[in-house]
Amino acid sequence: MRTIDEFTITDAALEQMSLTGDPRLKVVMASLVRHLHDFAREVDLTPAEWLAGIGFLTAVGQKCTPHRQEFILLSDTLGLSSLVNALHDKRASEAATKSSLQGPFYRQDAPLMNLGDSIISKSEGTEIVFYGRVLDSTGKGIRNALIQIWEPDETGNYDLQKHDPSEMDLRGCFRTDAEGRYYFRGLCPTGYMIPMDGPVGELIRAQRRHGYRPAHIHFVIGAPGYRELVTALYVAGDDHIESDTVFGVSESLIVTLNKKDPSSPLPNLPSIHYNFHLAAATNQMSGRVGADPAQITGASRGGM
Ligand SMILES: [Fe+2]
Repeated sequence: MRTIDEFTITDAALEQMSLTGDPRLKVVMASLVRHLHDFAREVDLTPAEWLAGIGFLTAVGQKCTPHRQEFILLSDTLGLSSLVNALHDKRASEAATKSSLQGPFYRQDAPLMNLGDSIISKSEGTEIVFYGRVLDSTGKGIRNALIQIWEPDETGNYDLQKHDPSEMDLRGCFRTDAEGRYYFRGLCPTGYMIPMDGPVGELIRAQRRHGYRPAHIHFVIGAPGYRELVTALYVAGDDHIESDTVFGVSESLIVTLNKKDPSSPLPNLPSIHYNFHLAAATNQMSGRVGADPAQITGASRGGM
């Protein structure tokens, strides 16, 4: 009979899990248990702290609904989402635009619009044009790429945070033209504080972090034969660009608002220009570190 102590427990747990059928599940769970046990030994975890952790994770789960994903927010604020993005980028077969956070506010049912249309349906704020091209690694335009876009309103809130599913705003999907070009109208991006009224916000306050994200707009870009790109563009000059609470900013994703731009397809509006690069797909692996909250809960958003 093995004596279970603070060291033998790790091998005992690994041994019981050693017959796991799925080889990837076996590797992931064995590593998780080793690190989790090392963590508990390193901090000399007490029963009260263990219970506080269980209480915290329970509260995170209870905060999740078809329009809110507190677990994604937790992953984002711990830097885990950004780390998973970096690992995903490293596996690309070709250089491409860097990934950035999908975050908890993506929605899968945004309407398909025509190039030049506005994604603003209800919000008020400064209208600008976003334009550029979607290119392959050789600089050739990718035609008919699907671009999904979402951004917060001028108060820094997404439509999902308004808890009314019929109020879709500041979202849209576009198809690139024959040269890979895209352009659409939207709001000049606004920075915001992440949702602070749940357990993640409580932790952020306990850690004396400000909770802000710099101004940005989200993109998911896909085309057959290419790796789907999940990224965001960040506006230069924002006070929190160096201290994003969820670690989404990369220098190559920082853009400048151009007040006068004769090259813009809508030169009367201020503009943000950016060309995205997609890598060729070597497998069907998704780059999404996030999901529509309604997909995760498995419940419909309708009627809520
Ligand atoms: Fe965002």
